[in-house]
Amino acid sequence: MPHEVTLIPGDGIGPEVTAAARRVLDASGVAIQWHEHPAGQAALEAVGTPLPDSTLAAITRTGVALKGPTATPVGSGFRSVNVALRQALQLYANLRPIRSFRGIRTPFEDVDLIIIRENTEDLYLGIEHPVDDLGAVGFKITTRKGSERIARFAFEYAKRLGRRLVTAVHKANIFSASDGLFLAGCRRIAGHYPEIAYQERLVDNLAAQMIRRPRDFDLLLLPNLYGDIYSDLCAGLVGGLGVAPGANIGEHGAIFEAVHGTAPDIAGKNLANPTAMILSGVMLLEYLGEFEAASRVTVAVEAVLAEGRVVTRDLGGQATTTEMTEAICRQLTRPHRPGRLLLDEQTRVADVLRAVAATSREGPVWSAAADEFAVTAVVYPDGHGSSAAIASFDQLIIVLEGEGAIEIAGERYPLHPGKIAHVPRGVRWQVRAEGGRLVYLAVHRHP
Ligand code: NAI
Repeated sequence: MPHEVTLIPGDGIGPEVTAAARRVLDASGVAIQWHEHPAGQAALEAVGTPLPDSTLAAITRTGVALKGPTATPVGSGFRSVNVALRQALQLYANLRPIRSFRGIRTPFEDVDLIIIRENTEDLYLGIEHPVDDLGAVGFKITTRKGSERIARFAFEYAKRLGRRLVTAVHKANIFSASDGLFLAGCRRIAGHYPEIAYQERLVDNLAAQMIRRPRDFDLLLLPNLYGDIYSDLCAGLVGGLGVAPGANIGEHGAIFEAVHGTAPDIAGKNLANPTAMILSGVMLLEYLGEFEAASRVTVAVEAVLAEGRVVTRDLGGQATTTEMTEAICRQLTRPHRPGRLLLDEQTRVADVLRAVAATSREGPVWSAAADEFAVTAVVYPDGHGSSAAIASFDQLIIVLEGEGAIEIAGERYPLHPGKIAHVPRGVRWQVRAEGGRLVYLAVHRHP
């Protein structure tokens, strides 16, 4: 049975980048039946409303949608389709992973942040009124239920993916009632997760810290408006809006869409970077339980970015949207050759083991790349180990010598010779030697 997914092309670059994502997801081999429905300016022009009932009904029926950006003219009084969709379907959690990619040069390396933004409250309810011709008032709405719901989502996410630190972001010194309530909700829920560190930051103060030391942070938990702003700010830290994916998640469904908007300046020119929408598609695949395909698509995108030859103008390249999409599809469908060690034909396992036994170094002491696999031998003296890191690839840890422990997503497992541990991509993990020197091989699939 194919998965049924609603596809909303949207406005501006939306049709171009959603077509790209659809093409890549189809090339991954996952069977998806797409149901295309309009929303935004395109729907307004076609059927007189930016969010037709038939589109809402389609998403409710399939439970999942891949959505292009939709235009909201500034100051028009035309309600944002996004806000309306998030409200109507109670998609209360906006999840936006932000991470560095090899091949995209930015001031910081190894940025790895998760943004979790409350999606249904705050100023985005759009309750505002003009007061004669004197001014206007707008209401900032925060509820205890909404604050606790998003905080619980954030801590559950952190627990499942082994994240170490949740930072709640607020301005409760000024908005003591509304942001104060948000913060109280975060604190209450944090108390149920003693294994995850929790801290708070004022939204203005965090801005300065974020652009100087983004790696000090792990998961940001924010009310709606601050979450919107930090999504763009953090996307800027890793290469711009062209590479930042996202998901709007509720109890009964989810809509996957990039952080970026309709980019009217480049719309219709085949210049948009499809990466953000393709990676939103990866999040969709994960939501559908298609983890293996999700990981293959990610590896294909990473390979094209790392090579840097067929990338769009925003990343310093010359490629069109179509050319970059085709390059990703080519990576994805590249025939697999058998995993033969290429680096050194003469190297035999016995030689590796001898070299490892003789070394007085620690950490990675030997590695080799194959057509499909990379293997690294790692040595840690007693009491030493790796620092916690997020696995970029699915990998196997094969213990050759010694005793120790591996922590994967917060769970601790003993290690001993012959033990094979599986570290799934995207989770936090670390290894420690306990009782003698620990030697292991880490094997992962090469892009
Ligand atoms: P924008 O994100 O559309 O564009 C900002 C800048 O980033 C532009 O220079 C654009 O060319 C560039 N950019 C964005 N995506 C890109 C990509 N994939 N590849 C290369 N460059 C990219 O933000 P802006 O201009 O503030 O908003 C335009 C419209 O989009 C507005 O009507 C806004 O309401 C709407 N919007 C819709 C969203 C959604 O439907 N989820 C989200 C954000 C904005």
